[in-house]
Amino acid sequence: MHHQRIRLDSLHEKIMSAAQAAAFIHDGMTVGMSGFGGAGDAKAVPLALIERARQDPLKINLITGASLGRGLDGQMAEAGLLARRMPFQGDPVLRKAINEGRVVFIDQHLSEVVEQLRDGSLPNPDVAVIEAVAITEQGHIVPTSSVGNSASFAQTARQVIVELNLASSPYFEGMHDIFLPHGRPGRGPIPIISPDDRIGTQAIAIDPAKIVAIVLCDTPESAIPMLPPDHETQAIADHLVAFFEQEVEHERLGRSLAPLQVGVGSIANAVMCGLIDAPFSDLVQYSEVLQDSTFELLDAGKLKFASGCSITLSGPCGERVFGNLDKYADRLVLRPQEISNHPEVIRRLGVIAINTALEFDLYGNVNSTHVGGTHIMNGIGGSGDFARNALLSIFVTKSIAKDGAISRVVPMVSHVDHTEHDVDILVTEQGLADLRGLAPKERAELIINNCVHPDYREALRSYFTAACAKGGHTPHVLSKALSWHINLQETGSMQVAAASV
Ligand code: COA
Repeated sequence: MHHQRIRLDSLHEKIMSAAQAAAFIHDGMTVGMSGFGGAGDAKAVPLALIERARQDPLKINLITGASLGRGLDGQMAEAGLLARRMPFQGDPVLRKAINEGRVVFIDQHLSEVVEQLRDGSLPNPDVAVIEAVAITEQGHIVPTSSVGNSASFAQTARQVIVELNLASSPYFEGMHDIFLPHGRPGRGPIPIISPDDRIGTQAIAIDPAKIVAIVLCDTPESAIPMLPPDHETQAIADHLVAFFEQEVEHERLGRSLAPLQVGVGSIANAVMCGLIDAPFSDLVQYSEVLQDSTFELLDAGKLKFASGCSITLSGPCGERVFGNLDKYADRLVLRPQEISNHPEVIRRLGVIAINTALEFDLYGNVNSTHVGGTHIMNGIGGSGDFARNALLSIFVTKSIAKDGAISRVVPMVSHVDHTEHDVDILVTEQGLADLRGLAPKERAELIINNCVHPDYREALRSYFTAACAKGGHTPHVLSKALSWHINLQETGSMQVAAASV
């Protein structure tokens, strides 16, 4: 079977075991691995490396597209394999290692990693490890369920290890559109005018002489846990649908809305599923991760086309989609994350970006990454790429967390990922605040009235009143601005602080 998948005969002699391939990776090296949102990651070589590191200490600097699947990030952290890690992660074990200072983590806009490789501010990978569904007659690499940064890793690395996954659907071939911008200055425009435009090649073009190892594996795609919609996420979806209807009524949007980007996680997925029964049609997606909701909308005939850089699905949805990929292939394109998340394209297409906040404040600043202002959760991912450049930048979140001990709407966010200038719409299960065209004090009124949980509403209003008494364009009582977070640290609840404001 692998003969049909490795179509350049001279490469057959490069087939070897994962342990033999992993031996190309030495202590102190920078390694670029495929993988984005748990999709398209190499599966055998990382495990062989982890095994080696457990017996014979070894440290690498690891760059990927985004998070790896199958708990690989956590296992690497546990084995002490990671010196530096970028640009995103979502693993509880690695998260702990980062927050305890055992792994250096660089949290970066996902569209920018490759720009820094290109301009030399990041070192080129010594070795790239790329999962593939096939190698073409020219020795070019056909990725699987994600493109991420794989094209740039394969092109800039000194040596390339290809992990050929025989379990991957052959229908991935033809789905990718590999286009990389030229260097600067003098770079031309990226010619994507519509989300279904194809502007590149179907495989990653490299000199096949750089392929030092091919590892065969037969491991199914990772399944990502996905919580079903609940009362609150359904309410968030309902508020958004009502808002979109109003935009259509005012002729600011048509019935097909605008190209949609939806962030990672159960809330964002539930919000997208809310569009299934909504009165919109011929929707298109220009997004990053394509989750279960993309395929629910395609199956429901609501979505016409989806562009992303990775397909990350739950177990049941994965079985349905990857087992019938031919049915979806002509309605999907997978691009490098530099292109799926490119500010130029996002601004040109007029994307509606929907991402999730950990917390936001009464003026609309959003924290997506740091619990209590200090401890990393996952990373900024693509949320900044989209929020800053979107036609409509929307952030959704439940109004409280941890059974009400935490208000996700606070006087001042403890860390800022998206400033008030990049945020148009905020939505909780309580309601929606349309901040467009409003000044800070007007925004605060709307956020307090529409988004805050009733348990915290009066306390936030009191804070705002006291702040306004002090004056200023964006009023604050600086001595109390972070008191809710401080009380959470000291007492386990924000409620005490809220009561005393
Ligand atoms: N303080 C402390 N903990 C908080 C919190 C806060 N303000 N808000 C939420 N949490 C906790 C929740 O209780 C939950 O913990 P649990 O898993 O122990 O129950 C956890 O954080 C996740 O919150 P949840 O409400 O379930 O949201 P989510 O799974 O959708 O994740 C983000 C939310 C913000 C962490 C996630 O969307 C993210 O990493 N975003 C940044 C990257 C991004 O936006 N990428 C998209 C671009 S495509």
